[in-house]
Amino acid sequence: MEEKKDGFGSKIGFILAAAGSAVGLGNIWRFPYLAAKYGGGIFLLIYIILVVTFGFSLMVTEISLGRKTGSSVIGAYKNADRRFGFLGPVAALVPFIITPYYCVIGGWVLKYLFTFISGQAHLATDDGYFGGFIAEAGQSTVFFIIYATLTALIVIFGVEKGIENVSKILMPVLVALSLGIAIYVMTLPGAGAGIKYYLLPNFEGFTLSKFLKTIVAAMGQLFYSMSLAMGIMVTYGSYMRKQDSIEASTRQVSFFDTSIAIIAGLIIVPSVFIFSGGDSDALNAGPGLMFVTLPKVFDSMKGGHIAGGAFFVLVAFAALTSSVSLLETMVSIVTEKFGLKRTGSTIVCLIIVFVMGMLSVLGYSSWESVTIFGYQILDFFDFISNNVMMPIVALLTCVLIGYVVKPKYIEEETTLNGEEFKAKGLYEIMTRFVCPIFMIIILLTPLFVKL
Ligand code: PHE
Repeated sequence: MEEKKDGFGSKIGFILAAAGSAVGLGNIWRFPYLAAKYGGGIFLLIYIILVVTFGFSLMVTEISLGRKTGSSVIGAYKNADRRFGFLGPVAALVPFIITPYYCVIGGWVLKYLFTFISGQAHLATDDGYFGGFIAEAGQSTVFFIIYATLTALIVIFGVEKGIENVSKILMPVLVALSLGIAIYVMTLPGAGAGIKYYLLPNFEGFTLSKFLKTIVAAMGQLFYSMSLAMGIMVTYGSYMRKQDSIEASTRQVSFFDTSIAIIAGLIIVPSVFIFSGGDSDALNAGPGLMFVTLPKVFDSMKGGHIAGGAFFVLVAFAALTSSVSLLETMVSIVTEKFGLKRTGSTIVCLIIVFVMGMLSVLGYSSWESVTIFGYQILDFFDFISNNVMMPIVALLTCVLIGYVVKPKYIEEETTLNGEEFKAKGLYEIMTRFVCPIFMIIILLTPLFVKL
């Protein structure tokens, strides 16, 4: 809670912090493998539609709720309506599930960064390299612990501002480098089929069950990528100045977040076609896709080990700004609930991250045979947070705003700066009708179809 007093000194401060939290592994690692798996163009189309309707509405709601109540997620829901007070702690629980496995993937990025800067990039082009790495608990544990500790040190020393300033410079570099790599990939022989698969929706053989799976996946990705339904944007909203436009800021953050995801997909999806034939096994690679594909791209490039090294440095930075926002949320909850000092709570949280993260590490190595509802441990954490907990938070948030306090409650806040709320009609329809129905579909789907 202690950060609350300072708030953001400028409009750009809010946008940078929100974008820093939003842009991360979700865009570069998670989005491309989902797009590859769920039909390319169809997934992209559905995702974009969801961002401008659903993502927009939920982000406006969360930021407004935070700014209006001036409270972090724990207090904000209670302030809006006593009976919805329980929703704060439920939303706050989500980062406790995501942060540990996020740090495991962060560790994978560090491993590749290390591989590239130590001149071993050629080894990583081998198909077995990634599988060999994650199958060996020792190595993945080391990189996971380094990544998690790095995140914790940033939080303990309170240097988030410094990190934000650095990333202010590095994020545009990441965009430029990614665009360069995407253009390079698109000129390679064989890229055409992949570009077509990724950009053109192909509805052939698209059954209802495939459609449901794609929507569920795209919706989970939306929460994850835009850092929604877990209280982060509520807390950030509480720091936002009253004279700034919530609507415009939301549009800017979601545009930036979505653009980076689309560019990352433009690199990775066509590369799957170029280097791995684009058969369904290659497209269904899941969490390993980026790590298996990118080394091949860089290997085919003149000076590719340098571009690759630079790319992994930038991705590590993007990931750090996100994991810092996740850990920061955990820390503020532990501080608030248990009255610990900041350093003490960070250490408590780090221990939770270590223990739960180890489950994910082991789930891909020594305990490979262990599955929960058919998911490996890391995938289970991913599923339970994105496809169960976040939809529940989003559903109840929509009920609270749509029917209890009424959309006017939010609209008043969005118009405080004297501007009108341009998307008011869309906002009301989404909050009252479309979102709740969608959330119910998302929650029920896994009971009937295997995702
Ligand atoms: N949005 C971040 C990403 O795309 C991940 C994240 C999720 C960060 C939730 C904060 C909260 O990588």
